[in-house]
Amino acid sequence: MTEFRTGTGWDVHRLTPGRRLILGGVEIPSAFGLDGHSDADVLAHAITDALLGAAALGDIGQHFPDDDPRWAGAGSLQFVRHAVRLLGEAGYSVVHVDSTVLLERPKLKEYREAIRRELAGALGLAADRVSVKFKTAEKLGPVGEGRSAEA
Ligand code: C5P
Ligand code: MG
Repeated sequence: MTEFRTGTGWDVHRLTPGRRLILGGVEIPSAFGLDGHSDADVLAHAITDALLGAAALGDIGQHFPDDDPRWAGAGSLQFVRHAVRLLGEAGYSVVHVDSTVLLERPKLKEYREAIRRELAGALGLAADRVSVKFKTAEKLGPVGEGRSAEA
């Protein structure tokens, strides 16, 4: 019988003026962006953790320490690609990804197809195997107040 595993990932980054807003490798026009050591792509980070989690391969910080100068400003899709490679070496292959981004604004739905395409490329999947959902936090909490984004 083929073994089938699932993984979950979660991440949060602060929203701040003067940073780019990059989600799933796609730059979204916005006055605020995500703050972090890498490009702070909260969606790519959550997906990376989900992939690693499914194979019990630790977490993103173990593979890409956030005090390592190599990852300063890094495009986070490389973390996704690396996790997919590690899974391959462990004998697994990814068959689908489902994800949710929590962000109060801007609206993201017009970028859904671009994000799915970028993620699918990094995951080595067809875009119809990559699901990306968006939610506000209904003005509640730090996400709702526009101070952070989660995935
Ligand atoms: O959070 P809420 O349920 O009100 O979101 C309604 C819809 O708005 C979502 O299903 C999603 O399609 C869209 N949305 C979006 N960009 C966001 C948050 C939500 O496009 N930042
Ligand atoms: Mg992160």
